[in-house]
Amino acid sequence: MSQQADYDVLVIGSGAAGLSLALELADHANIAVLSKAAIDAGNTQYAQGGISAVLGQDDTLESHIEDTLNAGAGLCDTTTVNFVVSQGPARIKWLIEQGVQFTQTADNTGQMNYHLTREGGHSRRRVIHAEDATGRAVITSLAAKTSAHPNIRIFERHIVIDLIIGKKFGLASRRCLGAYVFNIDTGEVTVFRARFVVLATGGAGNAYLHTSNPTVATGDGIAMAWRAGCYVANMEFIQFHPTCFYHVDDSNVFLISEAVRGEGGRLLLPNGEPFMHKFDHRAELAPRDIVARATDHEIKRLGCNYVFLDITHQPADFIISHFPNIYQRCLDLGYDMTYEPIPVVPAAHYTCGGIMTDLTGKTDVEGLYAIGEVAHTGLHGANRMASNSLLECVVFAHAASQDIFNQLKNIPFPPDLPDWDASRVTDSDEEVVVTHNWYELRRFMWDYVGIVRTTKRLQRAKNRIDLLQREINEYYSNFRISNNLIELRNLALVADLIVRSALLRKESRGLHYTLDYPQPAPISHDTILIPD
Ligand code: FAD
Ligand code: SIN
Repeated sequence: MSQQADYDVLVIGSGAAGLSLALELADHANIAVLSKAAIDAGNTQYAQGGISAVLGQDDTLESHIEDTLNAGAGLCDTTTVNFVVSQGPARIKWLIEQGVQFTQTADNTGQMNYHLTREGGHSRRRVIHAEDATGRAVITSLAAKTSAHPNIRIFERHIVIDLIIGKKFGLASRRCLGAYVFNIDTGEVTVFRARFVVLATGGAGNAYLHTSNPTVATGDGIAMAWRAGCYVANMEFIQFHPTCFYHVDDSNVFLISEAVRGEGGRLLLPNGEPFMHKFDHRAELAPRDIVARATDHEIKRLGCNYVFLDITHQPADFIISHFPNIYQRCLDLGYDMTYEPIPVVPAAHYTCGGIMTDLTGKTDVEGLYAIGEVAHTGLHGANRMASNSLLECVVFAHAASQDIFNQLKNIPFPPDLPDWDASRVTDSDEEVVVTHNWYELRRFMWDYVGIVRTTKRLQRAKNRIDLLQREINEYYSNFRISNNLIELRNLALVADLIVRSALLRKESRGLHYTLDYPQPAPISHDTILIPD
């Protein structure tokens, strides 16, 4: 018999999206928040630059909307962009009420104001931040509030294996009724039943060998939603951040915020020459897809491992006070950015596509919501503008919480659900299959499905994914599950969705660039994948 746990709302994921939603609903519902690692282990904790919102005197909603649409290269949903941008200021106010300490500076009258920085694609200063560690400030405040709330129970090191959809178990209901959850420490599987289930599981950066994402970003939510019957869109648009610190040991790769370029940092070739002005009139402040592609081009052209980022023209105390964490990490790795350029490379950073939702975060499966990086809302189009992601997390957490609140009284509790069936599996005798396939998948995704693609490379990747999926599924059916196996199975499925989407797009647009179709098509649509 599996254990059972019952809640009004099951929130899968404890990043900015999941914790915001839990807090917004906690006075009205019993909530479980699950995280497969520590509460603060998701992408949110690592966010540096900040959160975009119209807060400056010289800024307007129209300008934020226009910049987002430009960065999105013609594929943003204008209704979503209008919705998100117009909610920005109120959501920032809410974060401040939760205790998030954004950086303030004194103006010339001595009055303290929130400091706004600039990043690629933004035509104004509109990024509110907490030094260069905005995500840490956000997650620390939200985690403290959720942990203290009597209606929220947090389960760390609990990984969801799959969602429970009524009709898949012979019940009349098409609803999502809960999830099977694996306790990483005890190996037990619990059935969590809930009236509403919210996926807030973040992105899939680990589909690639080099990534700015922490190890938890394995696309679990997208894979589970696909298996549950949700539509998935625009998976080909994987954003590569142009500037991650280069180090021979990959575990030392970390993000160098775009705000460094926002404050005047320049990209240089190994011989010290700037190059971005040759690719775009906005130079270092062009949208990310353009800067990453230009950097990749120069690295491949010169056969070098990295280019340099140079902000030494700014005074040392400016650099240290604006970027204290980045400065210290570079120093620990042997570079003093106040007087020397630092080595940088692009790395997989953000999953623009995901589970399709409406403006309340609802998916195609009744009772199931998706919010944050796991979702495709139409905000980002073919390329997310910097710092629009945390904004999307808090805006959709708010919208989904309101939608759930409005239905709480009308939705009955799920019936008894079947136990997790582990009667036919045995202990694995070859764990190496998991570690080997994990590495192989991420390696060929980097080589064949990276910044510059071709149909032949995509097809090569597809053949390998098919093979890996067969092997992984056989392994999954025969052996007892582990968190590594759950993640690998999800990552292989997400890689498959990325490649299938990329093969369907017969043009170059935003983050999808293919040598076989180097121009944008005159008319373009979202790539929508529909499960069987
Ligand atoms: P996450 O914060 O990634 O949280 C995901 C949660 O889901 C985690 O708790 C994880 O444990 C849990 N989870 C996943 N799978 C399962 C499962 N199967 N079972 C149980 N739990 C599971 N965006 C900005 O707007 N501004 C920035 O300055 C910025 N800087 C960034 C810097 C870095 C280095 C990175 C990596 C990203 C940055 N981004 C930034 C993007 C932004 O941080 C993320 O898009 C955002 O934080 C995602 O939040 P989330 O709540 O959707 O997911
Ligand atoms: C950064 O600080 O460069 C990351 C910002 C983002 O990804 O939105």
